[in-house]
Amino acid sequence: MFASKVSRHVRFCTSPCHRRFLALVCETSMVDDLHAPGSFDRQSAVVFPDVITVSEHDALVAHVEPLLKRRRYEKGHWDSVILQYKEVELAEEASAVKDIFERIRKELEPYKRVEASWLPCHAIDLRKDGELNAHVDSVRFSGDLVAGLSLLSSSIMRLKPDASTISDESVKGHVDLYLPSRSLYVLLGVSRYSYTHELLPSQALFRDNAVERDRRISIIFRDAKVG
Ligand code: OGA
Ligand code: MN
Repeated sequence: MFASKVSRHVRFCTSPCHRRFLALVCETSMVDDLHAPGSFDRQSAVVFPDVITVSEHDALVAHVEPLLKRRRYEKGHWDSVILQYKEVELAEEASAVKDIFERIRKELEPYKRVEASWLPCHAIDLRKDGELNAHVDSVRFSGDLVAGLSLLSSSIMRLKPDASTISDESVKGHVDLYLPSRSLYVLLGVSRYSYTHELLPSQALFRDNAVERDRRISIIFRDAKVG
């Protein structure tokens, strides 16, 4: 049991000598479930640190920046769920970063249904003073998995039981994910469908430590809804 859990959590670690250490980091320090509702499924939210190298990070930023530059920061989207942001769909097929996307998708494959195909990735550029408020991703086109690669800045993502899905008043609490730059988070199951996710503002606390959230770019991976 423990071994399978570890191997699941070390999938992205590139350096074998750090595997055990990073597995522990994934397990213990990136997800704070101290205030989680008792029913929370701990396997449904995972954060992998250092899934890309610094040079891969820089290559991704260099790839998406020119696409984002053509756009203005938008004030609101989906009833103000997201404020002061830019978003662009990425056509990565012929790009310099194709290999990075392919590697990440390959690593994410075990988390999604085999028959589900991948949707194009989206890049989201959130200003330092931008907001990404609590929401559940639409279930119209997107499938069982939502994953996000964080670039440029650290942040804290908070998961909270979605009142429209979990009506039981006793289900209160939250789970925080620490998302440093170059990490990848994966939301599945209850974290995908029954919990909202949001980004906390700069200086919010993760385990009593203030996390500075600067301008942040994320690259979102989604699988297509099946059926
Ligand atoms: C979204 C979202 C989070 C992120 O686009 O639906 O929740 O990491 N993004 O940018
Ligand atoms: Mn979302």
